[in-house]
Amino acid sequence: MNPLEPIREQIDKLDQQLIELLAKRLALVAEVGKIKHQYGLPIYAPEREAFMINARREEAEKRGIPADLIEDILRRVMRESYASENKHGFKTVNPSIQKIVVVGGKGKLGGLFARYFVNSGYPVAVLDKDDWHNATEILHKADLVLVSVPIDHTLPTLEALKPYLTENMILADLTSVKAQPLAKMLEIHQGAVVGLHPMFGPDIASFAKQVTACCHGRSSEKYQWLLEQIQIWGGKIEYIDAKEHDHAMTYIQALRHFSTFTYGLHLSQQPIKLSQLLALSSPIYRLELAMIGRLFAQDGALYADIISDKPENLAVIESLQQSFAESLAFFQQHNKQGFIETFEKVHQWFGEYSEQFLKESRNLLQQANDLRG
Ligand SMILES: NC(=O)c1ccc[n+]([C@@H]2O[C@H](COP(=O)([O-])OP(=O)(O)OC[C@H]3O[C@@H](n4cnc5c(N)ncnc54)[C@H](O)[C@@H]3O)[C@@H](O)[C@H]2O)c1
Repeated sequence: MNPLEPIREQIDKLDQQLIELLAKRLALVAEVGKIKHQYGLPIYAPEREAFMINARREEAEKRGIPADLIEDILRRVMRESYASENKHGFKTVNPSIQKIVVVGGKGKLGGLFARYFVNSGYPVAVLDKDDWHNATEILHKADLVLVSVPIDHTLPTLEALKPYLTENMILADLTSVKAQPLAKMLEIHQGAVVGLHPMFGPDIASFAKQVTACCHGRSSEKYQWLLEQIQIWGGKIEYIDAKEHDHAMTYIQALRHFSTFTYGLHLSQQPIKLSQLLALSSPIYRLELAMIGRLFAQDGALYADIISDKPENLAVIESLQQSFAESLAFFQQHNKQGFIETFEKVHQWFGEYSEQFLKESRNLLQQANDLRG
């Protein structure tokens, strides 16, 4: 008999008990979900989460279990719990709302918001590109008109909406760029206006901890319920001026998507096999490839619009060429010392974040390694 057999049997039994425990825990979480729904509480409770994780870390350490292990497990379990809490629907923050119209509601992000509104008890109508012949009826008595069409359709779509809007309506959008759509909304509409930018894609399992940027337009007291509703879903609201938002997006989106696209393009033109690179990849390279590859599984038009949104984006991207040239020169000129000194300067610029990022990324890299199976 294999001498490991009896121990493996015990391990299997313990794993089965773990499944039992998880099933019990998820059942309790379902109860929590129901109560949160009943009392209209947000699904994400940061203080409770931080308190619980700290307490379990301390207990784990006392038992000689690495604190990070229990934190990893709990965070993964909680992620599952947040997704399952969605099932019960959400509190209707503003029951007086008679109708929400999502313009572009058949699309990815508009569809996501439409589902969450329905799940929160609001009557929702969709006005998509083939529905304009019915626009009068669809928009009649709408309390909120939420625009979620491709970036380059946003301004003409807002213009087309103008004749149907009445002052009591709230006009909002989800566009990834903010200054121009917000200015246009304020121009064509006299009522409440707010610009939103969900900093996530349509494939999220839950709104928990997801950030939505909010650019104030007009009459914030009238759209406050909408922000509260997003918070009930578990989302976080970050208030920011539209121009500052767009400036930050030059780096967070345009520069990053451009570099990712270029890296992908460059790889695709090299004499290499992706499968071989993956087989030999370190966890960080696998993660990097995943970040690049996932871009190409999405919508090229969305990224083209994000990158070309404003001249500032192209100026920053152009200056990237300069950094490439400077970095390459260290090696062309065998200037190892110059490279090391510059390395140190960039390290200084990152400051304490450098160490923090090292710590944070360790977890991700471990997960990337686990994916190799
Ligand atoms: N997808 C993302 O990851 C993401 C993230 C944040 C913000 N956004 C923003 O959300 C908006 C929508 O993006 P998406 O990814 O859902 O795009 P999408 O292409 O999936 O959906 C757009 C929808 O708009 C409809 N549409 C096009 N022209 C229209 C018109 N004139 N009138 C009515 N409907 C029209 C389309 O038929 C489609 O159903 C964009 O402004 C984008 O910047 C997207």
